[in-house]
Amino acid sequence: MSSDRSQDRQLSSRHLLGLEGMSAEEINYFLDTAETLKEVLDRPIKKVPTLRGVTVVNLFFEASTRTRLSFELAEKRLSADIMNFSKTGSSVSKGETLLDTARNIEAMRIDVVVIRHQSAGAARYLAERLRSVVINAGDGAHEHPTQGLLDLLTLRQKFGDIKGLKVAIIGDVAHSRVAKSNLYGLKALGAEVMVCAPPTLMPRGVDALGVKVCYKVDEAIAWADALNILRLQLERQEAGLLPSLREYAMTFGITLKRLEKARKTPVILHPGPMNRGVEIESAVADSGASVILDQVTNGVAVRMAVLVLLSTPEVMV
Ligand code: CP
Repeated sequence: MSSDRSQDRQLSSRHLLGLEGMSAEEINYFLDTAETLKEVLDRPIKKVPTLRGVTVVNLFFEASTRTRLSFELAEKRLSADIMNFSKTGSSVSKGETLLDTARNIEAMRIDVVVIRHQSAGAARYLAERLRSVVINAGDGAHEHPTQGLLDLLTLRQKFGDIKGLKVAIIGDVAHSRVAKSNLYGLKALGAEVMVCAPPTLMPRGVDALGVKVCYKVDEAIAWADALNILRLQLERQEAGLLPSLREYAMTFGITLKRLEKARKTPVILHPGPMNRGVEIESAVADSGASVILDQVTNGVAVRMAVLVLLSTPEVMV
């Protein structure tokens, strides 16, 4: 089985592994399709037959709430048959490898693999070895392309156009797959991007990607139309990259007091899960400026779009 949508006008690959190198035309194809499919979610009967006969396995080796549930819901809304795999309780605990796990599941005649894995490159590794379409649901610190697309869709809905928009990505940029997918997607669509982080959480050489680099969160707030606030990965403190969570909250936490100092309040995004009181104050997360729950709703529509464009049965051979 393979999808030949990649041979149509706008898709560069039969898999979705990342947004790096993706053209504006291709990104907009995913976003436009998501916009159309979003309407299905508001119908009394929230289901279409588009993926009838397609079998999808959700292969999750790492914890997830939003990505996992929204892929599952997207698949159900499209009438796909689905199987859910999680590392806990599987034969991985007996030493089975990623490839053997995937090949055994593929032998059950599945069509699409959605994979989340702790290792960067895991999705590409499977894409190069399986017959199925592979969709990256987050691989280590590499990329999280459907999160990038849903963030772009949320910004496009809020601002109308992404070209020229000023977006600051704030927090643990160095270890964030969300930051990377956002950065590639935003740059492709013509946004101005700033990354703002403590020096220990800023990737070396990031300025070569054509982004502004900033170490003071008040400057980022004053500059940006929108802030994408990253989850502070708590293990970074154990690794000695942060003095303390309290100090991080004081110097980089987004608070109402900080936002009030800005000429205009930026729109607030957060991919989740949030550490309330660390990278984001509750009053900000729950404020009128926050589009955090819109991101989650858009996540279902974006994942429907990705599944439809990569795996519609009539284009599979
Ligand atoms: N944004 C995101 O990837 O959240 P989950 O880890 O809950 O899927």
